Amino acid sequence: MKKAGIIGIGSYVPDRVVTNLDLEKMVDTTDEWIKTRTGISLRRIGPENACTSDMGAEAARKALEHARLSPENIDLIIVASASPDMIFPSTACIIQSKIGASNAAAFDIQAGCTGFVYALTCAVQFIVSGMYKNILVVGAEMLSRITDWEDRNTCVLFGDGAGAVVISEVEEGGILSSYLGADGTGADLLILPAGGSKEPASIDTVAKRRHFIQMNGNEVFKFAVRILEEAARKATEKANLSMNDVDYIVPHQANIRIIDAAVKRLKFPREQLVMNLDRYGNMSSASIPVALDEAYRDKRIKRGDIVLLVGFGAGLTWGANLLEWSID
Ligand code: UT7
Repeated sequence: MKKAGIIGIGSYVPDRVVTNLDLEKMVDTTDEWIKTRTGISLRRIGPENACTSDMGAEAARKALEHARLSPENIDLIIVASASPDMIFPSTACIIQSKIGASNAAAFDIQAGCTGFVYALTCAVQFIVSGMYKNILVVGAEMLSRITDWEDRNTCVLFGDGAGAVVISEVEEGGILSSYLGADGTGADLLILPAGGSKEPASIDTVAKRRHFIQMNGNEVFKFAVRILEEAARKATEKANLSMNDVDYIVPHQANIRIIDAAVKRLKFPREQLVMNLDRYGNMSSASIPVALDEAYRDKRIKRGDIVLLVGFGAGLTWGANLLEWSID
């Protein structure tokens, strides 16, 4: 059976930094509350004249360059985003046009903050089946556009950014296992209610701020701790490995307390966690690929390392990919 793996990676975050002190001027919050309750100090916010596909295209170009492929070599683009440019066409099609990947099919995946894990898992199937050779997987988010900047419960959490990988057949290592899950009975816990067919945009939906993210933080928190542990265990078991074999976990960066509680249950060493939450906040589908890119660039993750990506989020959805890093 063919093996699929990451052969190129890249990421992009906007230049503008928003501090907790900046947020103190906007809503009733404090730097102390945000740091202790979430672990976030800074986040990046995209420029007014940009959108999700611009950041995704930037990350994609870097991943292609790293993989030494030209855009024409890409057979498929899968974009994971909870903040797409628009309902349709897909952000994947817009990125296809922006980077000139004229031979690629393109589609989006909507799986909340688990989007990148879902998209990567999907890409692997196209490679191992032999249908496609080179697939671009992008996690891109401009959450600042769908954040309610008057709601202190959510606006302190999110940030903008994008990460991308190229998936191809590899001889050694690659994606060892994938595990996905969903529970739609929790759909209301993390939701952007209006703007779709159920609640089309109207003066009323705008006035009631229903085009912004709404979250039941406590319920999502409890779910996240439980599911992070479960997804990590399921993916390692599927690969016939144990947590002791894992060199690094790259978790979805939602809240430091969620991650601390889950890794304690997993008895996993905290120093082997890849984190960037403090600097970027929660970038949804972009959190995992940006963190992975940074850990590879600063030479923490090296060829042969066993790396576990674990996501959880709106849907509710969750999932994990276990991989052996296969690039120098
Ligand atoms: O990425 C997708 C997955 N998302 C997540 O995993 C997020 C999961 N949830 C969380 O991370 C946490 O639930 C939050 C960070 C959102 C909230 O933390 P919490 O410890 O669960 O706080 P809470 O919602 O229980 O609120 C505690 C208090 C409340 O005040 P009262 O009612 O006790 O007086 C809130 O109103 O903290 C208040 N509060 C704030 N205070 C200052 C909520 N947000 C803020 C704020 N600044 N920004």
